Amino acid sequence: MTFSPSQFLSQHWQKSPVVLRRFFTDFEDPIDEHDLAGLAQEEDVDSRIIAYADNQWHVTHGPIASFDEACQGQWTLLVQAVDRYIPEVSELMAAFDFIPYWRMDDVMISFANPGAGVGPHEDQYDVFLIQGKGSRQWRVGEPGQYTEHFPHPNLRQLQTFPTWKTFTLYPGDVLYIPPGWPHDGIAESDCLTYSIGFRAPDTALLAQQLAEGLIGGELTGERYSDPELATRSHPAMVNQSEITALKQLLLSQLSSTEFDQNLMRFLSDQQLPYNLPDSLLTTEELCHELEDGATYVLASGCHPIYPQRQPADHFLFYVNGEQFTASYNDRESVECLLKGDPVDAAWMRTLSTLAFMDIMTILINKGYWERMDT
Ligand code: SIN
Ligand code: CO
Repeated sequence: MTFSPSQFLSQHWQKSPVVLRRFFTDFEDPIDEHDLAGLAQEEDVDSRIIAYADNQWHVTHGPIASFDEACQGQWTLLVQAVDRYIPEVSELMAAFDFIPYWRMDDVMISFANPGAGVGPHEDQYDVFLIQGKGSRQWRVGEPGQYTEHFPHPNLRQLQTFPTWKTFTLYPGDVLYIPPGWPHDGIAESDCLTYSIGFRAPDTALLAQQLAEGLIGGELTGERYSDPELATRSHPAMVNQSEITALKQLLLSQLSSTEFDQNLMRFLSDQQLPYNLPDSLLTTEELCHELEDGATYVLASGCHPIYPQRQPADHFLFYVNGEQFTASYNDRESVECLLKGDPVDAAWMRTLSTLAFMDIMTILINKGYWERMDT
């Protein structure tokens, strides 16, 4: 049966786990355990090995110096945000683009030996678990108040949870788990799991964003004033109208266009640590490069976004926390670009204006679009 995104969203997204059998037909792993181990040796890559040996849990954080030491008993090597390093891994996310880019976080990949798992736990965020090579048995429970424990200071697990369902996953199968549903996956053989992770800001983060906008001067807040102040029955009393006026100060910020833009910066901010190009291009140089056969593509793992509501004469879009302003006439070019269209001479001729090539040059000079190796 073919997968229906709208049916999945109405029946399962944030509601209940589901297995999507053969979601990827003829799935081929874009990476193997050796590549993963290579990444785990890098300084700026977030990785860890969780092992269960001698009746104890062990956690080793990357960069991993000695795999022999860390990989004892049943062990799992986990590497975060692999989509930022390997374009083929980033492409896995495209299969889930029925979920908006701003909700996407990153792709964590794990390699586990037979019998291994990270223990029973629940996650705060939605996850699609893609089964790569091997097979894994997942035990899933219903949301509840379960007792957490730390069998190792860096390992949060649930003591136990009643089984709701078990699923065995084979290559190309996907298990979707909403936030708060406990799960425990045990590898049946050498096994690769790709976790497509999502993000959802909480109120504290949104309030922090508002505060930072005000402190940084992007938003200009007013100060409370009370020219109509009248006498009251007790000086210790705060009138309800004063509370309402204070809240109104915040509400007027929240409903401003400036805050919408601030929020878009926040939603697009992936804290991507891009390698800036060795030398900066001019627009003219870029046009020549494209004419000579160069192709530029969106940097691996980068998810630019744009707001549905736009100003009358411009088209705003956001990349990694930065706002870019194109002319309204370039709207179609931007939409194609943000969908991942490769930028080459044909693209430039059919879709782009000179003004937009200036913006394209900035995006490349900031490392958000990269020259594709030929
Ligand atoms: C794993 O890949 O071993 C863990 C993934 C998860 O449970 O979220
Ligand atoms: Co999990």
